[in-house]
Amino acid sequence: MRRILSANLLRNTCLFGANLPSHASVAAGRQTWTLNSCRKSSGETTSMDLSDMRKKYKGDEECFEESQLVSLDPIKQFGNWFDDATKCPEIGEANAMCIATASKEGRPSARMVLLKGYSNEGFRFFSNYESRKGSELESNPYACLVFYWEPLNRQIRIEGSVERIPYQSSCDYFHSRPKSSQIGAVVSRQSTPVPNRDYLRQKNAELEEKYKDTEVPMPDYWGGYIVKPSLIEFWQGQTNRLHDRIVFTRAKDGESELGEFQHSAEGGWVYQRLSP
Ligand SMILES: Cc1cc2nc3c(=O)[nH]c(=O)nc-3n(C[C@H](O)[C@H](O)[C@H](O)COP(=O)(O)O)c2cc1C
Repeated sequence: MRRILSANLLRNTCLFGANLPSHASVAAGRQTWTLNSCRKSSGETTSMDLSDMRKKYKGDEECFEESQLVSLDPIKQFGNWFDDATKCPEIGEANAMCIATASKEGRPSARMVLLKGYSNEGFRFFSNYESRKGSELESNPYACLVFYWEPLNRQIRIEGSVERIPYQSSCDYFHSRPKSSQIGAVVSRQSTPVPNRDYLRQKNAELEEKYKDTEVPMPDYWGGYIVKPSLIEFWQGQTNRLHDRIVFTRAKDGESELGEFQHSAEGGWVYQRLSP
């Protein structure tokens, strides 16, 4: 049995575990999915077979060639793809990115944060310095960022070292946020256990009262980070699975010779194509 469903209906139906035909074909805009996965779980164990779940990407004529890079400066290329993502009505939060950090023993953890700015220096986001990510970055100051813009079939991966941004820049951003967000940052000792939701609600109400006529001071455990990139990879999905991957890396200090299949780029970067 075949049915055409909207992507939202499908998502909601899946989330709430309603019964669907075991094979559904879903057309959402230009995209087609085949699905053999959205089944209600029964009993104690849930088993999901996702082996047939795949999306139609672009035709080969729409592939991403080196000649289509808008710039050989990967930050400018990032800007071009980021702008495309912000203009795409199907993308709700183009600046949402996954950031992976690792403990000093090398155990990884990942979560979403919002990109709040980028420049030649790097990619900025804000968080709690005492959170799990904060303490991992303290002992192992490296991170990997991943953007995935599904309607555009694009992924960008960024790796680099991480530093705190200057105190004054964090303060400026903190006070540019709505007061409720500032209070939220003070209320939340991010990643620490709390007895229940009421505890947070009450603390929030107390702080709203306390700061109703005054500025909320930025807590010293909150601020910005900058990820200084050493690698930026642009991935464009293709129907035939010959996905495009163009990766920029910083040329190593004092090394002027290019590696195999490597090309020089701008601003001390080199680039090459990777097999998908
Ligand atoms: C779309 C999205 C955006 C988020 N943005 C931020 C952010 O900018 N900063 C932040 O600290 N947490 C943000 N969060 C919450 C984090 O994912 C995470 O729960 C929190 O930072 C605690 O992570 P940690 O315990 O691993 O340090 C966001 C979550 C989502 C889903």
